[in-house]
Amino acid sequence: MKTATPTILTLLVSAATSGQAAPTCEPHPLRMQDGAPVTSASQWFDQRRPEVLELFRAEVYGRTPADKRARVEHITSADALDGAATRKQWDLRYGADRDAAVRVLAYLPKTRQGPAPVFVALNFQGNHTVSPDPGVRVATCWVRNNKALGVDANRATEAGRGGVAGRWPVEQIIGRGYGLVTACYGDLDPDFDDGFDNGVHGAFDGDGERRDESWGAIGAWAWGLSRILDSLEADADFDATRAAVLGHSRLGKTALWAGAQDQRFWMIISNNSGCGGAAYSRRKQGETVAVINKNFPHWFCKRFRSYGGREDALPVDQHLLLALCAPRPVYVASAQFDSWADPLGEFLSARGADAVYRLVCGDGLPAEEMPALDQPAHGRIGYHVRTGKHDLTPADWEHYLDFADLHRDTPPR
Ligand code: GCU
Repeated sequence: MKTATPTILTLLVSAATSGQAAPTCEPHPLRMQDGAPVTSASQWFDQRRPEVLELFRAEVYGRTPADKRARVEHITSADALDGAATRKQWDLRYGADRDAAVRVLAYLPKTRQGPAPVFVALNFQGNHTVSPDPGVRVATCWVRNNKALGVDANRATEAGRGGVAGRWPVEQIIGRGYGLVTACYGDLDPDFDDGFDNGVHGAFDGDGERRDESWGAIGAWAWGLSRILDSLEADADFDATRAAVLGHSRLGKTALWAGAQDQRFWMIISNNSGCGGAAYSRRKQGETVAVINKNFPHWFCKRFRSYGGREDALPVDQHLLLALCAPRPVYVASAQFDSWADPLGEFLSARGADAVYRLVCGDGLPAEEMPALDQPAHGRIGYHVRTGKHDLTPADWEHYLDFADLHRDTPPR
């Protein structure tokens, strides 16, 4: 286990955790809404956990339909990356529309003993941007306009191939014995406020009125991660009991919500996820609940909007989202200059989940204070703050791979 060394941020964090100047992590993770204390692991799993999960559904992310599935089609498999990897691609069709599908890309280490453990992560710009590999299909879904990647009118082109490969160090990942499975989030729900007509919402929600608890885009993206996991369970090349869900930024929020709902995920990794992800909302630092709902009204359920400026009234906060992952390994990563995502607030949530982890598995976050830059703290909860800006880098991946190795033999689920 790696332990962190104290830093100049120590004072700041002490103030934040002392309960005087800054808030401690309320609501108390080990107190039921009616005030009753939670004193055993079984009470957490049977009573408090369902209560917290239900509150996140009703107040924050909305309700995910339980009965919707996707069908696997068009599996292909080939050697790639100079023979170092096997590249697999397949479609996950959903709903009635023939065009509605998630196009999945996977790289597996070519030499492997048995099914490969994997990282499952959505990407922003299309699978073809993840690697210069010419065999990857160019995304056909909505993607954000981006001159450097050759995207105009939200359509991807060949020019984007490998354009975001710096975020996806495939050689590094397969070199450590893991696979990478990815799909573009635009295949699930285009990321703009369209009145919920397209993507998974268009396929499943019907024309009914949107209720306060209807799911938003984060819920739709998280649904897709679970459907990808279904398809891994059906393919013997993958060890679906060792599938880590990972996401950056808004997709880090998504990874946490996917891991909280779907306990099949082995490990949950949130990279620079900020407000509505790992950051503790009651601190009101960086992006706030009011601001995120104003700028991205389609991400959360309608009711979450009512907490803008009233964070103290929230019956949950983001440390409880991390606690929903217990006892599975969960990782929160921040970046030094990512003040919009509130690194200290992200650390405080990881600390705030510690009590639940200690209760249910006797292990938690081995850092009382915010660790120094690039000095990860790895227990059943992991945390690091990386030098630099908001991004997903090979340095982040190196810590995730170490964390995955550390927990390789932690019993799944
Ligand atoms: C914006 C948004 C964040 C989000 C980020 C991203 O900055 O305010 O909440 O995490 O975009 O997804 O890149």
